[in-house]
Amino acid sequence: MGQEDLIAYIEQSRKEAERVASSVKDFRVFSFDHIPERPVIRPEVKRIVDCLVRYQNSGIPRHMAVFGARGCGKTLTFRYLERAFADKVRLPFFGINCRVHNSSFKALAALLKTKPRGYAYSELCERFEREIPSPAVIVLDESDMLGEKDSRRDILYFLSRSPKRYLVVLLSNNHRYLKNLDESTRSSLQPEVIPFRTYSAQEILDILKDRAETGLKVVEPGLIEEIAAMTAKNTNSDVRVGIKALLYAATNEAGTVEECFSKAREDIIKDVLADTNEKALLILKAAQEEPTRLVKTVYQHYVDLSRNYKEEPYGYTQFYSTLGYLASLGLILMVSAKVDRTFTNRIEPLVSPDELNAVFAQRFQ
Ligand SMILES: Nc1ncnc2c1ncn2[C@@H]1O[C@H](COP(=O)(O)OP(=O)(O)OP(=O)(O)O)[C@@H](O)[C@H]1O
Ligand SMILES: [Mg+2]
Repeated sequence: MGQEDLIAYIEQSRKEAERVASSVKDFRVFSFDHIPERPVIRPEVKRIVDCLVRYQNSGIPRHMAVFGARGCGKTLTFRYLERAFADKVRLPFFGINCRVHNSSFKALAALLKTKPRGYAYSELCERFEREIPSPAVIVLDESDMLGEKDSRRDILYFLSRSPKRYLVVLLSNNHRYLKNLDESTRSSLQPEVIPFRTYSAQEILDILKDRAETGLKVVEPGLIEEIAAMTAKNTNSDVRVGIKALLYAATNEAGTVEECFSKAREDIIKDVLADTNEKALLILKAAQEEPTRLVKTVYQHYVDLSRNYKEEPYGYTQFYSTLGYLASLGLILMVSAKVDRTFTNRIEPLVSPDELNAVFAQRFQ
């Protein structure tokens, strides 16, 4: 690039930044860890508040396990509650993300805001009971990411048995997670299971309206309604896609609203696929390749594919529950289909072959 070209490019870039800034009031509103002043409160939150208030009064914990699809507000809900409880009733929350701190050892160290090196596990436990006052709420976000190697999830065993009576909250988008916990941990934890259903189109609309009001200078009429409807219909109600599509549309990232939405969806799908394990990816590929897409035939194809890729295949039951998990990630849709006068399930992949092949090229070399 010559000097003149560069100067022209700087001018072009400046104009572009100006154009974007002319429609956006506050970019932070579109970041996924932004906590809105007025989030949409789902009805399930009342049950959670009741549990927390009772705990604050009695000191007797009722642990909770909150399950729900991606982008249904699990993380946001607890971050918002943390703030509300700090203001109103002085119940402290300590939270970590288990995707980042993916073993009991690392998770305890992170809760103590210390480096994990140089301690024995039992020392960390002692320090925890000494330094973290009770009552306190311990939120383990993406708790199913506590490593597969850490199969007993020692931290859960420790927290649920501690004389300090902490209240444990497990957040996850994997409903199989509780079933996989070891028996003694499950029996001492006995959490109240709180499912978060996916948001309705109306709830998504309310969430996006608030984002538009707080984050944008101008909004074209009908835009938010259109994006909310597309999010509910095409993504298993992952609000992240709606938020990103709204920003793209407001800043004219692409020509039409549909194109902005597709671009937002592609961005988010890339993130989800990068976090999905090999077995689930093979199931997704089998669903894409098998022409009938009926659950049982897809399973057969999945077993063959696994052999080709030298992966041990899941049994049918585990395969079936992984389908539920993939649906909660918004990667497939399960539809009821009538075959020979009986009903069965058909799998509709929501990911394009190109998107999936790109991940395969990276993960299975
Ligand atoms: N009730 C709500 N009000 C306002 N914004 C919301 C609400 N629910 C979700 N959002 C927004 O949608 C995005 C996704 O929400 P969140 O991160 O809480 O999802 P999640 O259930 O934790 O998903 P994951 O399973 O991927 O962790 C965030 O940007 C969040 O601020
Ligand atoms: Mg989350």
